[in-house]
This record gives sequence, C-alpha cells and structure tokens, in this order.
Amino acid sequence: MRALTWQGRRDVRVETVPDPRIEKPDDVIVRITSTGICGSDLHLYELFGPYLDPGDILGHEPMGIVEEVGPQVHALQAGDRVVIPFNISCRDCFMCNQGLHSQCETTQVKERGTGAAQFGYTKLYGQVPGGQAELLRVPFGNKLPIKVPEGPPDDRYVYLSDVLPTAWQSVEYAAVPPDGTVTVLGLGPIGDMATRIARHRGAGLIIGVDLVDERLERAAARGVVCLDLRRHGKDLTEAVQELTDGRGTDAVIDAVGMEAHGAPLAKAAQWVTGLLPGAVAQPLMEHAGVDRLGALHTAIDLVRRGGTVSVSGVYGGAADPMPLMTMFDKQIQVRMGQANVWRWVEDILPLLTDEDPLGVDTFKTHAMPLEDGPKAYAMFQAKEDGMVKALLNP
Ligand SMILES: NC(=O)c1ccc[n+]([C@@H]2O[C@H](COP(=O)([O-])OP(=O)(O)OC[C@H]3O[C@@H](n4cnc5c(N)ncnc54)[C@H](O)[C@@H]3O)[C@@H](O)[C@H]2O)c1
Ligand SMILES: [Zn+2]
Ligand SMILES: [Zn+2]
Repeated sequence: MRALTWQGRRDVRVETVPDPRIEKPDDVIVRITSTGICGSDLHLYELFGPYLDPGDILGHEPMGIVEEVGPQVHALQAGDRVVIPFNISCRDCFMCNQGLHSQCETTQVKERGTGAAQFGYTKLYGQVPGGQAELLRVPFGNKLPIKVPEGPPDDRYVYLSDVLPTAWQSVEYAAVPPDGTVTVLGLGPIGDMATRIARHRGAGLIIGVDLVDERLERAAARGVVCLDLRRHGKDLTEAVQELTDGRGTDAVIDAVGMEAHGAPLAKAAQWVTGLLPGAVAQPLMEHAGVDRLGALHTAIDLVRRGGTVSVSGVYGGAADPMPLMTMFDKQIQVRMGQANVWRWVEDILPLLTDEDPLGVDTFKTHAMPLEDGPKAYAMFQAKEDGMVKALLNP
C-alpha cells in the first residue's frame, strides 16, 4: 500500500510499504478514505525526530471502510463505515471505565512511562503505524472504532477522531460558567473548534488570539472577538482585561502548545536533535524550556483570579519551570491532557446533523490526495494558502 512516512526533520514521503495484516483475532483492517493532518503532526515534523525512525507511518485522524475483520470481531463487518480515535484504548480497563481513554491501562507504553498508545505518534506512544495510509490495522475491533452512518460526506464525521473530542474536552475542562468569558489561545483547528463548542455550550464573551490573518478572520466571522498577537504582543493582558472589567477571562484554553510563536524554535530543534555541542546546547536547553512555555505563561497571565486554565496544546521535553508562585497566588485551576476520545463521542454525535451547528461540513480548507501529503505538511506548517485544516484522501 501507499503510506506517508517520516524520514527526517521536515521530510515526509509517500512510499510503498507492506500492507498491514490481521495480527490478533479482534483486529480489523480499515481502508482509509479521509485522514487529517493535525497540529500534533507538526511537532513530529519539526521537533520529535529522536523519537521516530525513518519509515514510521504518521497520522492519527483517519476514517474509512472496514475491509477485513479478525475471527473474534462481532461488532463490525466488512463494508461498515468507521472513524478511528487517535488514542488506542480498550474501553474495558480501570482508566477507560472512568472516561480516561488516553490513560488506557491495556495500552499504556510502560517502558516509556507514558499513557495510552496512539496511532502514528512516536516511540513515546508505542510506535504504532498511523493512518495517513491506504490501510490501517486497528486493534480492539469490537470496541475502538466509532461506527458512523452512511450518507453524509466524510467531513461530517472525520473530526470525531481528534479535533472534536479534543476541542470538546478543552471546553469541558475550562469550566466556563454559563454566559461566562473564555480566551482561546491559538485558532488552528483545535482552537477554532473550541470557540465553536464554547459558543454552543453557552459561553458569553469568547476571545480568540492568533497571528495568522485567515485564522483570525475565520473565527471573527463566527462571532469571536479576535485579538491579533502581532498587534497586541505586549499589551495582550491589558486588552483582555479591558474586555472583562479588569479581571481577565473566567477561563483560558491553550490550543497552541510547545511551538508557540516567539519561541526560539530552530535553536530548540537543533538542541533536541542533538546537533549542537554540549557547551552551546546546555544554556539553550535551559532557555528552550522556559521560552517554549510561551503560550502557557500567557494563559496564566490572562485568566482571572480563581479561574481555570485548560491546556490542549501539547508540551514535551525537559522539565519546564512554571510560574508556580503566580499560579498559587491567583488560585487558578489547571487541567490538561490528551483528549479521551470515547468519553465525548455520545455528546458530540447528536450534533453531527444536517443543521451542522459546529460547521464541520465546511471546516476543512484543503482536501488533497495522499500523494500530495508532503506538500500538505509543508503548507500547513508555513500556514500558506489559508490552510487551516487539510484532509488527505488516500
Ligand atoms: N490534547 C490533545 O489531545 C490534542 C489533540 C490534538 C492537538 N493537540 C495540540 O493542540 C495544539 C493545536 O493544534 P492545531 O491542530 O490546532 O495546530 P496549529 O499548529 O494549526 O494551531 C496552533 C495555532 O496557534 C497559533 N499560535 C502560535 N503561537 C501563538 C501564541 N503565542 N499565541 C496565540 N496563538 C499562537 C498559530 O498561529 C496556530 O494558528 C497543538 O499543540 C497540538 O499538538 C492536542
Ligand atoms: Zn491530533
Ligand atoms: Zn483501557
């Protein structure tokens, strides 16, 4: 089959690789029809080289048609239409039973001390072949795939794999009071969808922050009060306070993560990939730790006293110093983690209708064949051509 593989920093290629096969009796093989590129994939593209091998298949936002089922699969049959959650969760263990699917105890990557395995997401998460490919082997065939109706286009359902549950969880964790205020940092797919879900769930004032024209415009068109980081770099806190009686918003959602604008990205990347000699790398490492937390520090500044910070953006790397004193003094609550996809499926599915309250049918900005994957990665990272969300169609 054809699959998008990681080869090195900013180097992904579509190659011919062996087809996946049923390995366990409850595996299924899915023929992928649509598969998203996520901001999390950009971290692999730029920073996470040490945790990948050339040839690793990326992708964790797939949907498609069941092609083959193992002998113990009774919940699905060939031809069924399914969305595959990015966390590989058994839905049957202590953690899964509490709705903590990203901590699944059956798939935790114990040798690395991390949570549930994920499709296409490095050795830290099990080095499991991902879904930017023609075919995907999916374990827990009776439990993991989300069966969706025939009829509507893939756009209607594909975001159940990641964008929708992640954005839903970010809003849930933000605990915005009814008619309350929330700032969303980052208006990529996750932040954008978080503003929509916050609106749907009754938030009042929603402030969005980004520095890319198309992303700011897209959120503003849906009633988000947008602040352009290029204009409010220094006085962002004042700008938010002005809109909130001097307090800050009840909640802040960080939908940026460790590659925040302003961080010394190239240098950090060189350090992570070990290209710099130790004497140069060590002081850099200390700063990279601080600076890469840019968006999180902003969130702590912007939230009102006693408010909640909800972190969806992915952070990784060295022990990062945090402004603990301010966090304590402001009495804020911080909630974070990988989305527990299955936890939110029943909340979200009823919204995926022809009325389309969240605008999923028009959410993507680009659809491209799998063969154009490398181009799509480069465009998404550079935020070219107004790309906010790209789907690949194998
Ligand atoms: N927790 C989860 O389960 C989960 C799931 C999916 C994605 N993520 C993470 O969520 C984050 C966003 O993902 P995405 O797909 O929307 O990616 P993205 O990279 O397209 O979005 C990030 C946005 O933040 C903006 N930005 C950069 N620096 C900023 C700053 N200092 N202040 C405000 N905005 C800034 C960028 O312009 C961009 O629009 C990533 O870190 C991704 O890894 C987490
Ligand atoms: Zn993702
Ligand atoms: Zn489990």
